[in-house]
Amino acid sequence: WKSSPADIFAAGPVVPVLVIDDVESAVPLAHALMAGGIRVLEVTLRTPAALQVIKRIADEVPDALIGAGTVTNAQQLKQVVEAGAKFAISPGMTDELLKAGRDFEIPLIPGISSTSDLMKAKDAGYTYLKFFPAEASGGVKAIKSISGPFPETVFCPTGGIGPDNYNDYLALSNVRCVGGSWLAPDDAIKAGDWTRITELAKEAVANAKQ
Ligand code: 3PG
Repeated sequence: WKSSPADIFAAGPVVPVLVIDDVESAVPLAHALMAGGIRVLEVTLRTPAALQVIKRIADEVPDALIGAGTVTNAQQLKQVVEAGAKFAISPGMTDELLKAGRDFEIPLIPGISSTSDLMKAKDAGYTYLKFFPAEASGGVKAIKSISGPFPETVFCPTGGIGPDNYNDYLALSNVRCVGGSWLAPDDAIKAGDWTRITELAKEAVANAKQ
């Protein structure tokens, strides 16, 4: 099954941005989030274990829509595809990455925070984008303004989003989902506090206004 970026954006209102050091945390963490109603998981390539974590979840939690985050070049894109990622997200974009995104079977969601980058991505065929870093780049106001000239482009904003402001983003016509690390705090992962992570997920899903 080959997913499209539209499927990823439609799979749930909140996407946990995960930083996982210990590969043994991968499966229990995925189960904890899924027990809380979250199916889309973004494992960032910010730890040496990340590729193994992606592989583990892809192999052992088949119902999860496991993706890779912090994918910044074509080589990493290739690696995450090989590990079993079903989508890839980047904080930004390069010409090389945009080109590579068309060569692989999984959707690539490039990141932008300016209209010029949006236009570049659009010319390369990408209309499902990450908006990053959301709060620092103008947040809700910026994304709302962008919908004027670019109504067909839709976003998953991340960066500085949490329980207090995620619904402000979800209310925008050009936002389909939001991402953030608040759903799986580092201390909870390290302590193996899966109950807390399930609770955070449940709360975020239940209160999402979309
Ligand atoms: C990302 O890569 O999407 C961000 O690091 C997530 O930002 P947050 O930690 O502010 O949620």
